Amino acid sequence: MKVDGKDLRPIWLDENTTVIKVIDQRCLPHEVVILDLKTVDDIIMAIKEMVVRGAPLIGVTAAYGVYLAVLNIPEENIDDDYLIKECSRIKSARPTAVNLAWAVDNVLSAVLAQKTTYQKIETARQQAQHIYNDETENCRKIGEYGFPLIEQIGIQKGGSTVNILTHCNAGWLACIEYGTATAPIYMAFDKGLDVHVWVDETRPLNQGARLTAWELGKHGVKHTIITDNAGGHLMQHNKVDIVIVGTDRTTHTGDVANKIGTYLKALAAKDNHIPFYVALPSSTFDWTLTNGIMEIEIEERDPDEVRYIRGLDNHKIRNVLIPPAESPVANFAFDVTPARLITGFITERGICKPTKADILRLFPEKTGLGLC
Ligand code: MRU
Repeated sequence: MKVDGKDLRPIWLDENTTVIKVIDQRCLPHEVVILDLKTVDDIIMAIKEMVVRGAPLIGVTAAYGVYLAVLNIPEENIDDDYLIKECSRIKSARPTAVNLAWAVDNVLSAVLAQKTTYQKIETARQQAQHIYNDETENCRKIGEYGFPLIEQIGIQKGGSTVNILTHCNAGWLACIEYGTATAPIYMAFDKGLDVHVWVDETRPLNQGARLTAWELGKHGVKHTIITDNAGGHLMQHNKVDIVIVGTDRTTHTGDVANKIGTYLKALAAKDNHIPFYVALPSSTFDWTLTNGIMEIEIEERDPDEVRYIRGLDNHKIRNVLIPPAESPVANFAFDVTPARLITGFITERGICKPTKADILRLFPEKTGLGLC
């Protein structure tokens, strides 16, 4: 996507093909800092510390992590066991986004099928690049399939503004291009529809206020940042036409893990008869789990993310303590929205209902695998 006239993506392989470049998302929106990732440890740090975040981007970063693991294998460790161990380390960086394990396993299995070191390195690079390209294309298609939902509301409203609410950042910063939840929004905007986005600030790390607002603003999309608790009120007063969010892991039965607070938005949307859509590429489906609430591991992060707020103060980025320093804090990063609260999924293969039958209608190749 364009930022101040320049093409920018959240991750790319440097020309010399030994360094992965990423935007350090911890510094946005106040600074655009590019970091170099050269080792598996760098990749793990970037995922853990949320230099990169968002399910598809975590997957792509992890895929490049496998490439770096192969590229940098020390002479004395040149066997597959070492590589498999490095891949396990990458997979344990963050638990909730299923794209992480999916991408690592995808690249690893292709690499293990190769014989020579040269073939392994080339395969890892190509496979990671393949995932990168696929996720870009998936998001473009999600935009195409989701666009008519917004267009239809615009027609029903006689051309007046379509108000979309989103949570966290499921934009291009969380993917490679277009985003998932934002792809239909960007497409609607680019086609000249009058759209406005309510952006949940998304405590504790404020991915909405810092990242989604920055992205939308750079693209020229009208938006307003709201506190995480404002959505219900806006819905009661007809100020939200549709909710579109992303997801970190979605069961093949339709339960959705996404940033903490998503569930409450879905409850409020249901109570107010507002369509609630989840946009996701197929890499975010978990084909093995059936009960999201019981089975999806919810990441608990450092309590200091809740205790401190980070922001710009007199041209310097600072952390400020909010509660009494001694008060205990819990920091659950995700919650699960049950399928019954969801109107539909927007995927790269089209829109489906949040049911096993309809998901498998779009992904029939998953039916025979004995996973479901
Ligand atoms: O903790 P984060 O910032 O990685 O959480 C991200 C989200 O919850 C996104 O909504 C989700 O990954 C979908 S990204 C297209």
